[in-house]
Formats: sequence, C-alpha cells, structure tokens
Amino acid sequence: KIKHVILTGGVGSRLWPLSRQSRPKQYLNIFSENKSLFELAVERNAAFVDELIVVGNQGNRQLSEASLQKLGITEYIDIVEATPRNTAPAIAFAAFAAQPDDILLVTPADHIIQEGPEYSIAVQKAIALAGEDNIVTFGIQPTRPETGYGYIEYLAENVLSFREKPDTATALEFLKNGNFLWNSGMFCFKAGVFLRELEKHTPQVYTKSLSAFECAGDYKLDTLSSLEIPSISVDYAVMEKSDKIKVVPSSFEWSDMGSFEAVYDYLKEMGHPVDESGNMQIGSGKHVAFVGLQDCILVSTEDAFLVVSKGASQDVKELYQKLEKNN
Ligand code: GDD
Ligand code: MG
Repeated sequence: KIKHVILTGGVGSRLWPLSRQSRPKQYLNIFSENKSLFELAVERNAAFVDELIVVGNQGNRQLSEASLQKLGITEYIDIVEATPRNTAPAIAFAAFAAQPDDILLVTPADHIIQEGPEYSIAVQKAIALAGEDNIVTFGIQPTRPETGYGYIEYLAENVLSFREKPDTATALEFLKNGNFLWNSGMFCFKAGVFLRELEKHTPQVYTKSLSAFECAGDYKLDTLSSLEIPSISVDYAVMEKSDKIKVVPSSFEWSDMGSFEAVYDYLKEMGHPVDESGNMQIGSGKHVAFVGLQDCILVSTEDAFLVVSKGASQDVKELYQKLEKNN
C-alpha cells in the first residue's frame, strides 16, 4: 500500500507574526483563497495514495481534524506527538504505524506546489524508485544560496552527497558547481527500508523512537518517553549518511514558504506589488511608504508589525524564540 505521511508539527516560527502558535502557517488561508496549505497538501497527494497518516501534536490536532473534515476525510491514522523531536522521530513513528513494505510518501504540510503533470510524473518516478528499496528525495533547481535548505549533489538520479544547511560560502560554491539541487523536504521510501537505515546510522533515535511508540496507546505518545528521543531532523539522521538515497530532479513550481524571503519571492512571482527599491508590504492594506530602505518586508497583522530586511529572514526564528520566552 502507498501511504501519505503529512508532517504538521512545526509552528512556522520564521513567519511570525503571520504564523502563531495557536494557528501555525499550515492552517492559514494566506496563500490560497479558501484553502490552507495543509488542505492543499492533502488534496495534492490524495490521488497517489491509499491512506493518510497525520503526524502532528496535541496543539494542532483539532486544526488538522477540522481541515480533513472539510475535505470529507474521516478515516486516517492520527499520530499525536507529546513534544516535538524533529522530523527523524516523526517519520519513524509513521513508519512504525505502517507495514514494512508500505511505500510512504512523506510531505510537509506547509509547502506551495504547482499541481500538474510535472508533479505527477515526479511522484510516480519516486514511487517506482522507492519500490526498488531506495530512499527517494525530490530535487529542486536552486535559485539563491539559501542556507536553510539541504543540498543534493547529483548525477542523474544518483546522489553523490547530501549536505544539510550549509553556510553561505558553501552554498555559493554549490550554486557555482551547478550539480547541486535543493532538497524539497519531501521523501518517498518503504517504511522498512527507512527504519533499517535509521537504525544503522542513528541507532539511538531508532531505539528511543521505537520504545516511545510502543508505550503509546492509540498513537498518542507520552511526554516522558518522548523526551528521551534525541531531537534531530531526518536530513542529518538519514539523508546525509545513507547510501540508498536517490533523487528525482523535479521541475514543478515549489516554495516551502519557510521564511519571509521565500514568501516574498512567491508573492512577487504572483504579481504582488514591490516598490522600485524592492520593498514589499504584506498584510495591512494601508498605504505604506519605504524611504531609504531596500529589499525590506513590512508584515502587519491585527496586533503586531514586523519589519525585516529580506536577507535576514532566517533570523525571525530567533526573534520568535525570544518573544516566546518573554511572554
Ligand atoms: N510532526 C512533526 N514533528 N513535524 C515536524 C516536526 C516535529 O517534531 N519538526 C518539523 N516538522 C515538520 C514541519 O512542520 C515541516 O512541515 C517539516 O516537518 C520540515 O521541518 P522544518 O523545520 O520546516 O525543516 P527545514 O525547513 O528546516 O528543512 C527541511 O526542509 C527544507 C525544504 O523546505 C529539510 O528537509 C531541508 O533539507 C529542506 O531543504
Ligand atoms: Mg521548513
């Protein structure tokens, strides 16, 4: 069977104040008129799969449930994490809940992707490669030295190396070399193949995730055993280490809406106004003027403003963490 695993554990801290803990970005309709990113992600993949596995947390369970109800989906596996341990454990839980031979199509809940033949062909290729016991990534042609992404050094479908979140100098080097793709953050593999590779390369994460999963009743994890799992992303835990990685170089339009820089690029592409110095405002609908500023983004919501220089978009995460501490 083919199963869609949707990862929806993030709070989208880099999109504060648009994204809030009470309503993370994947549940907002900001990028499409009447559908959230979560709903779009479920719909986009429904045709390829037999079943849905949601991996989220107590705080957003109801938001997921309401979204799925809206789409008429009432039967799915609902894995509820007690505390976020990042994507390696989150994917491991989904793999434990599946059969070893099930093919998992793992996608984040918060991407914007252009549906159409390019997407379908890429997913079908990935499913075929996963059927041959590979761990499949989707590669996107890079357009800037983004430091928040993983980079895949490739030759056709073969992966020579996988490098998660390089520094700017290294990212520039990768762009210059020309044989690197961005990791989209979507993956496809057999549950059993993934678990074997996780056990081989980061045994601690495998063992602790398994004990936590085994203690969980009805897929609800408990805090104590979850806290023992090292918090690590699948990119570091498996993708950088495994020799079973393949890539499907993909040409569908993709944005992870991961930072205001990504949102800016996407909105600009969609015709959202930008002034002659490259400044953009998101949200208020009021008249805004930028003087002596370049490539800045003003974000306004009902109760907060954020002014951020486009190149510093990644730092909003730290700001969010500080605000969280002070509140
Ligand atoms: N359930 C669950 N639990 N989901 C999680 C958790 C968790 O503990 N942590 C993160 N997620 C979800 C996020 O909501 C998001 O949808 C997805 O997993 C990826 O996590 P991010 O935190 O957004 O990862 P990233 O953006 O730093 O990096 C990943 O994505 C990039 C592309 O967007 C990596 O895979 C990079 O290599 C990749 O380029
Ligand atoms: Mg992300």
